[in-house]
This record gives sequence, C-alpha cells and structure tokens, in this order.
Amino acid sequence: MSSTAKLSTPVKLGAIELKNRVVMAPLTRMRAIAGDVSNPLATTYYAQRAGAGLIISEATQISPIAKGYPATPGIYSAEQTQAWKDVVQAVHAKGGKIVAQLWHVGRISHSSLHPEQGLPEAPSAIAPAGKTLTATWQMEPYETPKAMTAQDIVQLKKDYQLAARNAKTAGFDGVEIHAANGYLLDQFLQDQTNHRSDNYGGSIENRIRLLSEVIEAVSAEFAFDRIGVRLSPYGTFNDMGDSDTTALFNAVIQKLNGYGLSYLHMIEPRSTTAGGNDKVDENAPDTAALFRKAFKGAFISAGGYTRDSGEQALVNGDADAIAYGRLYISNPDLAERFACNAELTPYDRGTFYGGAEKGYTDYPSL
Ligand SMILES: Cc1cc2nc3c(=O)[nH]c(=O)nc-3n(C[C@H](O)[C@H](O)[C@H](O)COP(=O)(O)O)c2cc1C
Repeated sequence: MSSTAKLSTPVKLGAIELKNRVVMAPLTRMRAIAGDVSNPLATTYYAQRAGAGLIISEATQISPIAKGYPATPGIYSAEQTQAWKDVVQAVHAKGGKIVAQLWHVGRISHSSLHPEQGLPEAPSAIAPAGKTLTATWQMEPYETPKAMTAQDIVQLKKDYQLAARNAKTAGFDGVEIHAANGYLLDQFLQDQTNHRSDNYGGSIENRIRLLSEVIEAVSAEFAFDRIGVRLSPYGTFNDMGDSDTTALFNAVIQKLNGYGLSYLHMIEPRSTTAGGNDKVDENAPDTAALFRKAFKGAFISAGGYTRDSGEQALVNGDADAIAYGRLYISNPDLAERFACNAELTPYDRGTFYGGAEKGYTDYPSL
C-alpha cells in the first residue's frame, strides 16, 4: 500500500483533536536530572516530534514509591511540574498535542530507588522473576514487595489525583493512565499478581475496582473525555499473566465504556513491550481485532506497526489511530515522512536509555 489516506487524516479522541492519526507512543528514556525532574533537553526532544497527531509522554511517576528505574521523571513536585510545563509549551507552540502518561510501577522497582519508602508496594507480596536496575544502574534480583494496605490504596488515589492536577497545571491536553505492561494497575487486574482477599482481589469485578477508582480520582482534575487508558492483554512483559485474559479484559472494557473516556490504547502482544529481548508469545491473539469492537470510544493500537500495517489497521476498522514507539525515537518527523513515503532512519538500541543528546535529540528531520 502506498497511501496514508487514513493515517494522514484528522481524528477526535474524546475532546482531544488530532491533526493526523500517527501517535507517538510513550517512551521511557531515563534521562531525568536531580529531583526526578525531566531533562531540559526533553523540551527539544518533544518539540521535534510535534508533527505527531498526539504525543503520549514517557511514563511519569506519580510519587516517589511509584518509580521503578533510575532517571525517570516524576510529576508530583512543583519543580517537576514546571519542567513539564516547558515541554508542553514547546509542543503546543509547534501545533502539537501532548498527554502525560501517569505511572506507578508497583513491584517492578527496587528499594534503592526510594530508600525513604523502603520496599516496593504491590497488590500482593509476590516478587517478579528476574533482575532489575537499582538506583546505581546495577542489575539485582527483584525484592519481594509489600502488599498494599487499605490505607496505602487511599493514599495511592490521592497521589494519582495530585499528579493529574500537576499535569493540568503544566498544560497537558489530557492524561493517559498506564495500566499496561505489568505495572501497578495491571498487577491489580491480573490474577497472577493479585492474590488479595479484600474487595480489590478475587473476582474480576474486584480486580477492576482499583483501575476504576483511579480513573474517578483523576476525573476530579480532567474531564473523562481527556483521560485515556493503556492496557496490554496477553502481554508477558514483567512476568505477567492471567487465568482468563479474554474474560478479564472484556470486563475491563465494559467498565471503561461507562466513563466516556478520550480513548483506549492497547499494545499488541506480538511486539516486545520495551524494546528489549522479552519473550513473545507467537500464539497470542491480535488484541485490536479481538477487543476493539467491544470498546465504544476511540481506540489506539500500538506494537510493531509499520506505515503500511498501520494504514491497513485503520482501513480495517481495528483502530482510530496508531501509536509508534521505536520508529519515533529515530524519526522525529515520522508523521511527515509517512505522508510522503520517505525513508526511515533506523534506531540505535544502545541509546534508548540514559545519556544525553546522543540518540535523543540528534536524530535528523528531513
Ligand atoms: C525505549 C522504550 C521505552 C518505552 N517506555 C514506555 C513507557 O514509558 N510507557 C509505556 O506504556 N510503554 C513504553 N514502551 C512501549 C512502547 O510505548 C510501545 O508500546 C512499544 O515500543 C511497541 O511499539 P513499537 O513497535 O512501535 O516500538 C517503551 C518502549 C521502548 C522501546
């Protein structure tokens, strides 16, 4: 297919109007400076990518204990919020739209990243398999997290609301609630990680409760039609799984249908979720085809798309917009290149995480 007849057309995701359907996927780059303030270069980095119909920011932690990797930016302090304000202004000045991805990693963390808070917190005290990065960029085995108490959950909702308020102050067009890739909200949804016996665990209805309460907390700051949710059914990244994935995520979608959200964003399990060598289930279903029709609002699909396969998914009605991750790292003008079928610059994995300009703001536009 040589046309981007659909990719290049405008679309409305709830209250957010996009000039095209090429979305920049959320991309953690681990370049934050002291105080978990987003790097001053992020202003240039995001402004370079303002040709996207929508930019979804890299995941931003909502509180100190929500952090899971070194040098990821937060959105809970005044200084962090001011840095985001500079980013948003630069994107808006170039005619772009940008939402903040709100993040709590749950058990995918290490106590060295938040020494004052101690062990990571999660629905249940179950350590993920494997190793993780400490505050000094060393690989160490995951610790067993502490199971969150009812009081911790009350605090968590306040933290989400504060982060949403800060995102509003910074001028973001909306927020995306990160409930994908095995982080906290996904840990509550799926029964491999949620063994609770209170009203946040057990039945599917109970496991969905926290996500819906978080959406409601965030809605105190942003209207529902400026709130998106990201999910990754059948994804195995971060040691995830559920005994009945299809039933669980159909129920999640039914719940989300009641809110009138800006969009639902799903990651295809066929793709690696963070650009590493994660195991990929070759038999995993195409989740856009499986779940798109169940969701009543706008739908973004991500995961391993090319220009042509993205256009095809739009033509097929499997999505309203396509999010591109790795290709946006190395092609700041990806939407423009797609429109004229220009060649793409390959990405360098070695500079995905950490460092400064190299592999961040030095990829050329045409
Ligand atoms: C370097 C890197 C960082 C990522 N960081 C995030 C993130 O912060 N939040 C998130 O939801 N997904 C994150 N992802 C997943 C991407 O948003 C996307 O779903 C994935 O890369 C698949 O899309 P692609 O094949 O177009 O790259 C990351 C992926 C990469 C490669």
